[in-house]
Amino acid sequence: MQGAYRQAYENWKSDPEGFWRKAAEAIDWFEAPQRIFDGQAGAYGRWFPDATTNTCFNCVDRHVRDGRGDQAALIHDSPVTGSQRSISFHELLGEVSALAAGMKELGIGKGDRVIIYMPMVPEAIIAMLACARLGAVHSVVFGGFAASELATRIADCGARLVISASCGIEPGRVVAYKPLLDQALDIAGATSMPTIILQREASPCSLMDGRDQDFEAVLARHRGKQVECVAVAATDPLYILYTSGTTGKPKGVVRDNGGHMVALHWSMHAVYGVKPGEVYWAASDIGWVVGHSYIVYAPLLHGNTSIVFEGKPVGTPDAGTFWRVINEHKVAALFTAPTAFRAIRKDDPEGALIARHDLSSLRTLFLAGERADPDTVQWAEQKLQIPVIDHWWQTETGWTIAGNPVGLQQLPVKHGSAAVAMPGYDVQVLDDAGHKVAAGTLGNIAIKLPLPPGCLPELWNAQSRFRESYLDEFAGYYKTSDAGYIDTDGYLFIMARTDDIINVAGHRLSTGGMEEAISGHPDVAECAVIGVADAMKGQVPVGFLVLNSGVGRDTATIEAEVIARVRERIGPVAAFKTAVVVQRLPKTRSGKILRATMQKIAEGADWKMPATIDDPAILDEIGAALGRHGYGPTQAATDA
Ligand code: COA
Ligand code: AMP
Repeated sequence: MQGAYRQAYENWKSDPEGFWRKAAEAIDWFEAPQRIFDGQAGAYGRWFPDATTNTCFNCVDRHVRDGRGDQAALIHDSPVTGSQRSISFHELLGEVSALAAGMKELGIGKGDRVIIYMPMVPEAIIAMLACARLGAVHSVVFGGFAASELATRIADCGARLVISASCGIEPGRVVAYKPLLDQALDIAGATSMPTIILQREASPCSLMDGRDQDFEAVLARHRGKQVECVAVAATDPLYILYTSGTTGKPKGVVRDNGGHMVALHWSMHAVYGVKPGEVYWAASDIGWVVGHSYIVYAPLLHGNTSIVFEGKPVGTPDAGTFWRVINEHKVAALFTAPTAFRAIRKDDPEGALIARHDLSSLRTLFLAGERADPDTVQWAEQKLQIPVIDHWWQTETGWTIAGNPVGLQQLPVKHGSAAVAMPGYDVQVLDDAGHKVAAGTLGNIAIKLPLPPGCLPELWNAQSRFRESYLDEFAGYYKTSDAGYIDTDGYLFIMARTDDIINVAGHRLSTGGMEEAISGHPDVAECAVIGVADAMKGQVPVGFLVLNSGVGRDTATIEAEVIARVRERIGPVAAFKTAVVVQRLPKTRSGKILRATMQKIAEGADWKMPATIDDPAILDEIGAALGRHGYGPTQAATDA
């Protein structure tokens, strides 16, 4: 493979520090980095250890300084409220400064943690940037999580302030956030925590005197005030983003300021091929890493206009919404999850709605968040007639591990592959003993340390968990917990997770977390949750319940209670809709639940009787129980 990609990769490999030193020139530093990397600091080293900077300054102030003040920084396009609003960099600076002044008045400063629990409104991004301006550390919580998940995050990060909204708007349903927030503060034992609440017309809420402040009132009181960007160390945390781990307790992925900016800025031209001033759209949510990196920080750092979309690919009002947004705002690059395209395709298989819009501005479609199935990629290629690029990354990395860097050089697309490793990442496939395997052989995907700038340096308040989760298993490597292979051309194929994480509609969820929620039901003796293939969402969770002996209640009632319990404890985003009461769970003789076999039975796939099974008859019982819920061979027949 020749060309600009290979050249960039070789440049990085031969001189990693020189590569990132050059990339760092795109960032405004208060004190420029003299040292690029300190291999002795942190768990595997730290980037730009002696530099100081401010992420908000780089996202906002410097663009106003450099003449981009009148350019739209954000365009809020909200089909669920029927409204649109454009905010220039100049206006954004005013709003962010006003909120930062209000937060300062509450005593928020460098290092303080602030929870942001908001729907897809520009005020959420204003809040993130106001934190960055003050050197405070934000932790955004996705709106589809339940109160107890919010409480866990409030408590774990030791928040001093919550910024939220009265409600979010889902198609056909207004989600009142304030009662969830009040409940979460109660669970977290933080009922006197100050809050700033954005009142939304769809469902305003009552504010508690002396504790809750109105977002608009705070801004109105402080508009026109100048608030300096606080100098932080490049290694200081910008944010904590909680993501699913293998237990119910989420992992607080920490992102620093300096390395994050350097990597994201580099990615905008190299990976996404956009120029400053163009319109960039990541159709995700600020509650996920894709939203942090590519709705907020990367486009703003790079001087792009970012679309803040409050809607869904279908049903708001139809499968043509994406095309309307691209046409109206002249979007140059779209980034979304494959599940969004599966949903669009289901509603508009011929792509008839595509033809109604002028999509000439759109050069590239980027997909990530879950495996991009070749069928969906082909459909998108055919209907849009532009390159469709799969790329692979994780909350932990914050940007692309493997992709097809169209800004450097567009490499041939191989369907089913996330293409090649980006500069910064030495990706290898290892067997369980940690040895490199031959090309084409399936194994554990690992990244040789150190991780590049932008990746997590640690987990919040959990250093030993950080090492155990990522560094201990393969010495000298970061374990991705993804399995796959690299072909002879260096293309990566990501096939599955090696842990109990499942991917539901591009959302990362822990089956262990769901099991913890289910086990608390008084009638449940034992349970197991597995991810089962789903034509639309990629995977959906299915729970198996063994009841305590002597429980005489109707099993359908218990199943419904368990479904409600997961929604109540984890949230609607878990999409947990199937609970199946069984007599027993299939186990090995050493007591390990045979999840992989259960998954195959549920998917109607071929399966072999595991040699270590304790009692083979149990699998027949499982098959019969699944059949009653529409899974098993019936599912395979429906999907075919
Ligand atoms: N606040 C409150 N509830 C939310 C929510 C939010 N921000 N986001 C989702 N939910 C709820 C939904 O209303 C739904 O509730 P329901 O069970 O009452 O219907 C549930 O969580 C599951 O939501 P979702 O996964 O979005 O499924 P869906 O069936 O509503 O929509 C898709 C399916 C494919 C259209 C949708 O998942 C989608 O757009 N996916 C893109 C994924 C994405 O952006 N991933 C980020 C990585 S790039
Ligand atoms: P998250 O941390 O929520 O971004 O989820 C990361 C996980 O999603 C990865 O570890 C993969 O399992 C999966 N994933 C993300 N992008 C891709 C992709 N392009 N191909 C296959 N799996 C992906």
